[in-house]
Amino acid sequence: MKGFSLRSGKIFVFVLWILLSMNEFMLFSAKVFNVKKFGAVGDGKTDSTKAFEIAWKKACKNRGKPRVVIPEGVFLIRPLVLRGPCKSHKMHVHVEGVVKAPINITVFKNKKEWILFQHVERVIVSGYGKFDGRGAFAWPLNQCTKQKHCNFLPSSIKFNYVTNGTIQGISSVNSKSFHLSIHNSKHIKLHDIKISAPEDSPNTDGIHITDSSNVTITRSIIGTGDDCISIGPGSRRVLISGVFCGPGHGISVGSLGRYENERDVVGLRVRNCTLTGTRNGVRVKTWPASPKSSASHLVFEDILMNNVHNPIFIDQNYSPYGPSKKQRPSEVQIRKVRFDKIRGTSASKVAVRLMCSKAVPCQDVELSDIDLRYHELGQSTLASCANVHGVSKGLLKPPPCF
Ligand SMILES: *[C@@H]1O[C@H](CO)[C@@H](O)[C@H](O)[C@H]1NC(C)=O
Ligand SMILES: *[C@@H]1O[C@H](CO)[C@@H](O)[C@H](O)[C@H]1NC(C)=O
Ligand SMILES: *[C@@H]1O[C@H](CO)[C@@H](O)[C@H](O)[C@H]1NC(C)=O
Ligand SMILES: *[C@@H]1O[C@H](CO)[C@@H](O)[C@H](O)[C@H]1NC(C)=O
Repeated sequence: MKGFSLRSGKIFVFVLWILLSMNEFMLFSAKVFNVKKFGAVGDGKTDSTKAFEIAWKKACKNRGKPRVVIPEGVFLIRPLVLRGPCKSHKMHVHVEGVVKAPINITVFKNKKEWILFQHVERVIVSGYGKFDGRGAFAWPLNQCTKQKHCNFLPSSIKFNYVTNGTIQGISSVNSKSFHLSIHNSKHIKLHDIKISAPEDSPNTDGIHITDSSNVTITRSIIGTGDDCISIGPGSRRVLISGVFCGPGHGISVGSLGRYENERDVVGLRVRNCTLTGTRNGVRVKTWPASPKSSASHLVFEDILMNNVHNPIFIDQNYSPYGPSKKQRPSEVQIRKVRFDKIRGTSASKVAVRLMCSKAVPCQDVELSDIDLRYHELGQSTLASCANVHGVSKGLLKPPPCF
C-alpha cells in the first residue's frame, strides 16, 4: 500500500510537471500562422483577403503568443477587419512582404479604412515589410481639400479600441487618406516607421491620433502631402521624439473645433524632431466659429527647422477653404504651451505666428531659446501675434511679439 501511494505520488508530480511545461510552452512559444498556409498567394494579383482573415482568426484563438507571418511576396488585400478580443496572450503580426490595396475605391464601399485592428489587447505589428495604399488613383476624387462636408477616403491602417499596441519597423506608402490612424486606443507605441506619399497628395497625413491616450511615436521618418503627425481631439499624453518630417504640413495639434462634442487635447510633448521643407513646423490649428473645447499642456522642444514656412504657428482661424472673414472667432481655449530650443531656418520672414482667438485668448504661452533665421542667408525674422498672454525668455530670434 505504502509503495503504491509513493508511486502514485511520483506519477502525480510527473503529470503535474508535464501540464505545467505544456502551459509554459503555450505561453512562451510562438506558434506561426503563415498566411500562405491559408491560401494567400504573393503574386500581386490573387485576392488574399480571406487567407489573411483566417490566419488572424486562428491565431486569435491560440492561447499563447501566436505570430501571423506575411512572408516575402506581394499580397493583394481588400478591406480587412482584424477583430478581437483574442484568447492569445499577445497577437503578433510580422510583415516581410508587401501588402497592397485595391486601386478602385468602390471596393471600399462605405469603409473608412483599409486594414482595421478592432478591440484588440496587446498586439504588435512588426517587420521590414510595406503597406502600399496605392492612393494615386483615388487622390483626384478627394473633395475634402475643397469643401467641409465631404466623404473621407479610407485610411491605410487603423487601430480602433486597441490597448497596448505596437507598430514598429514597417513602412506605409501612398495611402488613400491617412496612413496610420489611432482612435479610441491607449498605451500605443509606434517606432522606426517609414511613411511616404507625394508632397501634393491630399490628406495623406502620416499618423492621425484621436480619442487616445499614452501614445508614443519615436525614431520615424515621415514625408507626405499633409501633416506628418496630427494630434486630433481627445488625444492625451502623447510623446513624439526623434521624428524626421518632410515634405508635408508639419506636426500639428488639430484641427480642433470642427465638430460638436470634441474632447480636449491634454498633454503633448514633441521633442528632438527635425522638419525639412515643410509648410509648417509645429502648429496648433483650430476652426473659427467652433464649439467650446481646449488644448493644453503642450510642449515643443529641441526642434530643428530646415527651410520651414511657418516654423512656429498657432492658427485659430484655420480655414483651408479660403479666408473666413465674418465668422465668430474660435472657442477652443489654448493654454499652457511651451516652445523651447527651436532653431534653424524659416522659408518666410515671419517665423513665429501666434494668432489666437479674440474670444478665448491663449493663456500661459512660453517662448524660450528660439533661434530662427530667414533662409540660408541668415537674415533676421519677425514674429506676429494676436491675443496671446505669456512670457518670453532667453535668446529670442525673432524678438518677441507679446
Ligand atoms: C471601379 O469599379 C466600379 C464598380 O465595379 C466600376 O464601375 C468602375 O469602372 C471601376 N473603375 C475603374 C477605373 O476601374
Ligand atoms: C497595458 O500596459 C499598461 C502599462 O504598461 C499596463 O499597466 C496594463 O496592464 C496593460 N494592459 C493590458 C490589457 O495588457
Ligand atoms: C504608456 O504605455 C507604455 C506601453 O505602451 C507603458 O510602458 C507606460 O508605462 C505607459 N505610461 C503611462 C503614463 O501610462
Ligand atoms: C534624437 O533623435 C535622433 C534621431 O532619431 C536620435 O538618433 C537621437 O538619439 C535622439 N536624441 C535624444 C537626446 O533623444
